[in-house]
Amino acid sequence: MNKAIVGLQWGDEGKGKIIDWLSSSSDYIVRFQGGNNAGHTVIYKGEKLIFHLVPSGILHKGKVCLIGNGVVVDPRVLVEEIRVLKSRGIDVNPRNLRISSLCHLIMPYHRNLDALREKYRLRKIGTTKKGIGPCYVDKYSRSGIRISDLIHPQIFKIRLQENLKEKNSLFRNTYHYPPFSFKKIYREYLEYADFIRPYIADVEEILQKATKQKKNILFEGAQGVFLDVDFGTYPYVTSSNTIAPALATGTGFSLRKVNKIMGVAKAYTTRVGEGPFPTELKGRKGDFFRRKGDEFGATTGRPRRCGWLDLVLLKRAAMLSDIDELIITKMDVLDELSEIKVCVGYKRGGRIINSFPTSLDKIQPVYDTLAGWKTSISQIKKYKNFPPAAKAYIKTIEKFVGVKVSYISVGKMRENIVKKAV
Ligand code: GDP
Ligand code: IMO
Ligand code: MG
Repeated sequence: MNKAIVGLQWGDEGKGKIIDWLSSSSDYIVRFQGGNNAGHTVIYKGEKLIFHLVPSGILHKGKVCLIGNGVVVDPRVLVEEIRVLKSRGIDVNPRNLRISSLCHLIMPYHRNLDALREKYRLRKIGTTKKGIGPCYVDKYSRSGIRISDLIHPQIFKIRLQENLKEKNSLFRNTYHYPPFSFKKIYREYLEYADFIRPYIADVEEILQKATKQKKNILFEGAQGVFLDVDFGTYPYVTSSNTIAPALATGTGFSLRKVNKIMGVAKAYTTRVGEGPFPTELKGRKGDFFRRKGDEFGATTGRPRRCGWLDLVLLKRAAMLSDIDELIITKMDVLDELSEIKVCVGYKRGGRIINSFPTSLDKIQPVYDTLAGWKTSISQIKKYKNFPPAAKAYIKTIEKFVGVKVSYISVGKMRENIVKKAV
């Protein structure tokens, strides 16, 4: 059984926790897009672990984690992440972590370009400044450097020289920023080459073989549907496709062989960075979610913007990622509320909008108000024991989105998850 997990909102839906939990029944866990802009949290033996590049399944023995060609790899981050995981007693080795040679590399100038572009941009995006955007730009302009280039010093040398010629002129003339030294980067990256070499693999071939052997593959999406470069709230998006079909181009695996696409959504909404957010709650109500849900970025530590659940967005996301099942996370964060709002429509200039708008700018949400359950649900193990108001909340989501909820996460620990019949 091959499954995919994707975020349905603006990222941070709790994908890490769900991936970790589903990993026990998977043989392969595969990242297919994004880079270390992702921060996937897993609570492991009572401690918080944040995964940026390594698939969150690495904690499970006997599994193979793969990084597909669609992922942009910052080798500095990869080396550090592996070091930290090992220091926590987690086994990471070239047998349980395999990386595609087709991955594009994030270079030091990508990180600086990201920060400088952001600084001079009139409409700030609020990027993670990890170099994600500039790296994907180079990929598509065909000047990028891939892992397959890095491991051949002569090829790497030419590619780096070529890139620095162009980038240094940009840094000097446009940004009045000191140029990068070829020697320094070359030396640093050759060390990474030695480190990464044993991990390199033909990910496409591994997945093909795994399918023939009827192994279970789990695809781990990063970010969320509304950060998708095409379907998200452009330009306030990331630079990759985040919808489920991106797994095909990001790994070389056929979408037709994926049996189940599971969409993860928080029981409310959050967003980090700039951009429209119709159900955002400013002030005390927003603070409530931030405090109760511990809503601070796993990658940058920035406070997340918080608001009510937007069902209009969720329905659209379910369509774009063609999801089979919904997983609702952080339901426990709503425990204390006596009333819960959900957005069931959009207005612009006081008028109801019937089709999904191209831009969410100046959109006013139309809310339905539901009763809260006013009791802690974190210890509940069976859906039948959920308070009636919590069940009504889930039913409202299912009815509006037109997709059944299969699991509800009610706390950050592995065991805080409730199965629901679909
Ligand atoms: P991801 O990027 O989608 O993997 O999500 P993040 O890890 O960035 O953010 C999710 C946060 O919510 C993490 O701190 C998780 O530990 C936490 N979390 C996940 N599921 C639940 C849940 O059901 N309840 C609560 N209270 N916290 C959760
Ligand atoms: P996970 O996988 C939440 C946001 C940034 C910014 C925009 C563009 O943990 O859900 P980028 O650095 O990608 O160019 O930034 O996208 N962003 C995320 N927000 N979760 C993420 O990943 C994100 N990855 C990028 O905050 O608004
Ligand atoms: Mg995250």
